[in-house]
Amino acid sequence: MKKIAVFVSGRGSNLQAVYNVSKNPESNYRIEYVVADKECLAINFAKENQIQTLLVSKEKKTNYVTFQNLIEIFSNKVDLIVLAGFLKKIPEEFVHKFKNKIINIHPALLPLFGGKGMYGMKVHSAVFESGVKISGATVHFVNEEFDKGPIICQKAVDISNCNSSEEIALKVLEIEHEILPVAIKKILENELVIEKNRTKFL
Ligand code: GRF
Repeated sequence: MKKIAVFVSGRGSNLQAVYNVSKNPESNYRIEYVVADKECLAINFAKENQIQTLLVSKEKKTNYVTFQNLIEIFSNKVDLIVLAGFLKKIPEEFVHKFKNKIINIHPALLPLFGGKGMYGMKVHSAVFESGVKISGATVHFVNEEFDKGPIICQKAVDISNCNSSEEIALKVLEIEHEILPVAIKKILENELVIEKNRTKFL
């Protein structure tokens, strides 16, 4: 059984989707840790479901671990790190340590509507204002630059009938919940090859 750590900052609906799939008898992974940058609904969900939780901060703080501590805690214990709505930038040292082992879900079709400051409703507002007719979700590897690592999978959704960014967010969220657990499963089955910036499922 492979082990994953899920990083969160808020509501935790992606965490729940990943958790629900992990509970299927044929699942190849389980959530070993949930890590957050603050107390939040997602941390409550993890505690209610007996998952180990950790709070992380760049600086040393009471009740918080640092990213350096996480490197030690995770070593040989975690096969994949999943950012699911985690709002803090991951330090470079941590990214290098877990090269090709950190993935992120982004609520738009990268490389559009990504980059610094593009998170949560800001993404959906930009999508709405741009007038595009499709949006979607992207799972990608995390590298040193915001939303720039190799794309693992994407799924599009028709938003031509959406009247607000909130409506777009709802449509996209459904897709996020669908593709994130699939990407996790495939990566952990070693069914993904990375060639420069392109990835391919076997
Ligand atoms: C999701 O839309 C995710 O793509 C984005 O932040 C949101 C988090 O939602 N990065 P939740 O906490 O998983 O419900």
